[in-house]
Amino acid sequence: MNKIRGDDVTATCGKPGGNTIDGYVEAAFCHVADLGMGMGMKGSYGALFKAEGNKHEFRPLGKHGAPVAGGYISPNRILWDVEGLAHFSCHRSFIAANVLSSSHHPECKMTADHPVTDTAIIGSGFIGRAWAISFARAGARVRLWDQAADQTAGALAYIEGVLEDLARTDLLNGKTPASVMSLISVASSMAEALAEATYVQENTPEVLTTKKMVFEALDGAARADAILASSTSALLPSRFTEHLKGRSRCVVVHPINPPYLIPAAEIVPSPWTSLETVERARRFLVAAGHAPLVMKRELDGFIMNRMQGALMEEAFRLVADGYASVEDIDTGIRDGLALRWSFMGPFETMDLNAPGGVRDYAERYQGIYENLFSQMQRRVDWTGEVMNVVEAERRALLPAEHLQKRQVWRDKRLMALLAHKRGQAANETGS
Ligand SMILES: NC(=O)c1ccc[n+]([C@@H]2O[C@H](COP(=O)([O-])OP(=O)(O)OC[C@H]3O[C@@H](n4cnc5c(N)ncnc54)[C@H](O)[C@@H]3O)[C@@H](O)[C@H]2O)c1
Repeated sequence: MNKIRGDDVTATCGKPGGNTIDGYVEAAFCHVADLGMGMGMKGSYGALFKAEGNKHEFRPLGKHGAPVAGGYISPNRILWDVEGLAHFSCHRSFIAANVLSSSHHPECKMTADHPVTDTAIIGSGFIGRAWAISFARAGARVRLWDQAADQTAGALAYIEGVLEDLARTDLLNGKTPASVMSLISVASSMAEALAEATYVQENTPEVLTTKKMVFEALDGAARADAILASSTSALLPSRFTEHLKGRSRCVVVHPINPPYLIPAAEIVPSPWTSLETVERARRFLVAAGHAPLVMKRELDGFIMNRMQGALMEEAFRLVADGYASVEDIDTGIRDGLALRWSFMGPFETMDLNAPGGVRDYAERYQGIYENLFSQMQRRVDWTGEVMNVVEAERRALLPAEHLQKRQVWRDKRLMALLAHKRGQAANETGS
């Protein structure tokens, strides 16, 4: 039997054709993922789970539901919520579930057995409030804290609005906005926010002295078994955790905004972050429907900003040197490269773009690119002369007063794209 790794898995529930349940199947998924269940690279497999005293029967099923193997999983790994038979099917990076016979627990939370049941959000601005949606949607309790009380009030109002939108696009995993909202509360102090949390996400401003101060406070006040994760966009974790007693439990978990719509999140360890911390953070993110990228060691820009930075620098250079308009460059990405990139990365793109795969691609096409890289060495000051051209073109296309409206439009498009991707993955499972 192959094992699926937790980070291969995202989860959803509530496919047509079964009696679907609300709110907790995805919490069961992560246990399935943790344990590994029978699957192949193609086709869907399933498993029957049945509570039997303190044992749970685990029977992987073949593609069409025929038993192919037998075995047991350890007790208490399947949620207490799953009563009777639960049918799971999975396909590559996706697991969908219909619970055929189950009692209904719409308010269900992750159980004590789940890697994380309680989270704290420290700093409830733009990113903190967005993480709160992601965590609560996965069934974890969330306590928000911010040194500015009006920020947490603003966060709750924001979250309420977004949950309605997510429900409309079927992105709440079958939950109701009210049930997700009921998991989120505001703490009146950092200590109160941290009291129960085994996963803490820090989202304070991108200022090194602030991060150092906040992490010192978190390390002093959080539970001994809590992971302390920072959303920092660019600060290396070693720069603000070195002096801490609990530095092995500190790690960067860097989202792309907004994390409730963009699953990828970078896990970046410092040299002293323990493997256990990385693994627990990874499992939690998977359970929350994220697609974690785990860096082997810290590096400026992590992975995604290095990739994005290379593209943006070249975009500025092309405009600065008068080769193309701002809009033509956007067209090349929006109506060109990004169509593929919305469902595969550069390596898979190369692998599929030459008959013999990625090596064949490199042998055929490296020459085209080789010549370019020396031309790409010169830096362009993004805020220099070129910005006059870029801004003038952008403002002609989108007047400043329409920026906010367009941001709302962007988020709606992202929701539609995410819903489409989830639907596609479900179709590929054949479930
Ligand atoms: N905005 C993005 O697109 C984005 C994306 C990925 C990562 N990040 C990172 O997330 C972090 C937060 O960014 P943001 O955009 O949410 O900023 P923000 O300004 O919207 O929010 C920061 C919040 O932290 C609060 N705060 C300040 N000092 C605090 C303290 N000592 N204790 C508790 N709360 C405190 C502020 O009141 C504010 O509500 C930064 O490290 C940023 O680099 C941001």
